[in-house]
Amino acid sequence: MAVTISMGSGKGGTGKTTLLCNLALLLAKKGKKVCLVDLDIGGADIHLLFGLFEPKHSLTDFLNRKVDSLTEVVHTFYSFYGLQIIPGTGSTLQTANMSFQEKQRLLRAISALDADVILMDVGAGTSYHALDFFMFSDIQLCVTMPEPTSIIDLYSFLQLATIRKVLGSFLTNSEVGHMLRKHTFSTLTEVFELAEKTQEGAKAKAQRSLHYFHPLLVINRDTPNARVNKTKLKQLVAKYLGIDIPQLGEIPEDAAIQDALRAYMPVCELSPEAPAAIAIIRIADKIEKLIGLFGDRSHNSTS
Ligand SMILES: Nc1ncnc2c1ncn2[C@@H]1O[C@H](COP(=O)(O)OP(=O)(O)OP(=O)(O)O)[C@@H](O)[C@H]1O
Ligand SMILES: [Mg+2]
Repeated sequence: MAVTISMGSGKGGTGKTTLLCNLALLLAKKGKKVCLVDLDIGGADIHLLFGLFEPKHSLTDFLNRKVDSLTEVVHTFYSFYGLQIIPGTGSTLQTANMSFQEKQRLLRAISALDADVILMDVGAGTSYHALDFFMFSDIQLCVTMPEPTSIIDLYSFLQLATIRKVLGSFLTNSEVGHMLRKHTFSTLTEVFELAEKTQEGAKAKAQRSLHYFHPLLVINRDTPNARVNKTKLKQLVAKYLGIDIPQLGEIPEDAAIQDALRAYMPVCELSPEAPAAIAIIRIADKIEKLIGLFGDRSHNSTS
């Protein structure tokens, strides 16, 4: 079974796709069997970053049941260390309103892919799709830029993701689960309060469901005077969501990223000496170690 990694942000344009494409390439270069899945419904562009303009198949074919198996829509880049991608889908009524069953079918198929590592780009925003895809994985990465608006958007994203995680920890037919699903919440504190009011001890149970949720933070397009905002995000998350958000790395603003975009090649391959590439390579090394902690789940690994 593969180790799954998802990438979310809240705000658009923070660098999720750029970072994921580079990480996928670096992990493939290290000898891992990697599949990069574009779950950014409506904004799918991973294939373009690798210069693949007209993929033969995409996720749409799987969702429309044009193909029977998700493996049929996998595209392999032999020139990029055998990296596999699943090109994403445009926004159609069918994908935007994907049912619970359809989503489960998709996630089951993703889990069953023959890979060591599966990376998922969940796109921007806080739709249920984005939140569910994000929370589905073993390792969650989140990216923000140092600007206050980007940080607040990431905080909102994490707030909604944690609310959804907590709601999912109570069975629909339990007293607390039934009560929570009748309400809409904008803060985690509201969820905890209603849970405890409905049943004593439910708050502690809700908090336990977040025990293993430690999304890893990447600051992208970093500048030297951005320190204050980063500290603020960590404080907000610790105080109101009760979770720790370890920092995985910082990627500087770097024109080499744009050059790589124009060359249809990940920056780590085109200009490995560029400051942004060096930072991403460091992040990939840390992620490789983390993947190693999942032990024999990545049994296909050749490295
Ligand atoms: N460190 C960086 N330095 C300079 N430019 C960057 C950096 N990181 C990303 N960019 C640029 O920012 C833009 C947005 O990046 P990207 O598409 O990866 O973001 P995204 O989070 O996937 O966006 P969306 O939410 O729309 O999917 C791109 O033009 C990319 O080249
Ligand atoms: Mg993107």
